[in-house]
Amino acid sequence: MHTCTRRRFLQFALGTASAAALGLNLPVDLLAAPATAATFPRGFFWGAATAAYQIEGAWNEDGKGESIWDRFAHTPGKIKNGDTGDVACDSYHRWRDDLALIKELKLNSYRFSISWPRIQPWGVGSANPKGLEYYSRLVDALLEAKIRPLVTLYHWDLPQKLEDAGGWPNRDTAARFADYAALVVRALGDRVTDWILLNEAISFTTEGYLQGIKAPGKKSIHDALRATHTANLAQGMGFRAVKAAQAKARVGSAFNMSPCQPATKSQADKLAAERAHGFRNVWFLEPALKGRYPEALSLFPEYLMGVKSGDMEQIRAPLDFLGINLYDRTIVSAPSAGERLFNAQYWLLPAKMERGQQGPKTGFGWEVWPAAMYDMVMRVTRDYGRPVIEITENGCSYEDVPDANGVINDVRRIEYLRGYLRELARAIHDGAHVRGYHVWTLMDNFEWEAGYSQRFGLAYVDFKTQKQTMKESGKWYAQVAGANAIT
Ligand code: FCB
Repeated sequence: MHTCTRRRFLQFALGTASAAALGLNLPVDLLAAPATAATFPRGFFWGAATAAYQIEGAWNEDGKGESIWDRFAHTPGKIKNGDTGDVACDSYHRWRDDLALIKELKLNSYRFSISWPRIQPWGVGSANPKGLEYYSRLVDALLEAKIRPLVTLYHWDLPQKLEDAGGWPNRDTAARFADYAALVVRALGDRVTDWILLNEAISFTTEGYLQGIKAPGKKSIHDALRATHTANLAQGMGFRAVKAAQAKARVGSAFNMSPCQPATKSQADKLAAERAHGFRNVWFLEPALKGRYPEALSLFPEYLMGVKSGDMEQIRAPLDFLGINLYDRTIVSAPSAGERLFNAQYWLLPAKMERGQQGPKTGFGWEVWPAAMYDMVMRVTRDYGRPVIEITENGCSYEDVPDANGVINDVRRIEYLRGYLRELARAIHDGAHVRGYHVWTLMDNFEWEAGYSQRFGLAYVDFKTQKQTMKESGKWYAQVAGANAIT
């Protein structure tokens, strides 16, 4: 056994401060730096995540209806290189290959999403049996391999018919979502217990209806604000629909979070950072857990959002766990008077948000900043009474390709994951209740508007042949999952 192991364990178990207070004779480097080795709680879920549109392909097979992502990707100019998810990783046909990867990774959790238009081609009415059968087979195979299915009900692929009826800005979509959720849970709830209602509501509402870079590609502040309110309603109504269909269900949602740090110590920047946090991180969490919107927007646009009396009671939902998708941190400054005057967005949310620039960059240009994991998990732990948390996504894209021997030596991904996992271990040690961690993503796949240009996978995919090859990071992660510890 390594001579430092016991000391490190003590340091990890007690924390550097308590270890020092107890007079343990630890070397200075161990007291100064977070422990490099860390064991995770017993029964910890080690997983990987995917989403239906990003992997399944088979976009119009077996009765599946068109989704807003089918329509968006088929519209010229929307996706890099004209890529589409028509085939993607072909997981609709090759899901057994995905399962083989998950087993090789020694994972005990797999987060995947259900394509709403595969279940309800028109967004309403009875379920398409072929769609349900596909997921039912996948669930059975996972359970047989002792892998927990963690099922996301909505990962951005709204049935196009519902978009035609107004999409997320139309509050009726919330009731449609609750109906759909009930259909799925009635079919799979005898085997699946852990459900995620929405993936990153802040992303699909603002990027889809304000910035127009994601489906359905709309650019309207009004639509985006209304969409956020409908998504909140969908979360509350969906929560109750799932519980009604399956009393023992554990129901959460996946929130895209990034610690918002003021650019300077000025009061104005600090205030802007708090507003940014209110909108970017907890706009869908605070209403669910506390029954109110955060104080983020300078004028509360109840009227614009279409908030009706009784809505906040509908929205409130005591989520059983919080999913956190975390990649990086956000630097926030207060816009100048001039900037506020000429940018309508700043009237509403006077906060300039930028990605951090200090750390190394991933292939996507996202900053690598492991402490973001600790900061965010601890803030949520403090502000919401130590909820059960699962990291539902964390990962990075790099363009590593097979070398002459066919090896994908993605050392930067190993460093990234190790760094973020250490910070997660530190948060758990400092009191956060974290139950699981999922790498985004199992294998390279369709990265939304970036098409196939960003490779986030633990396994490499040759999109010409669909051959999957485990990357070195995957092999490393398998060791972590097997040992329930990082070394
Ligand atoms: C998240 C999405 C996920 C994936 C990663 C890189 O925002 O939830 O589908 O695209 O980013």
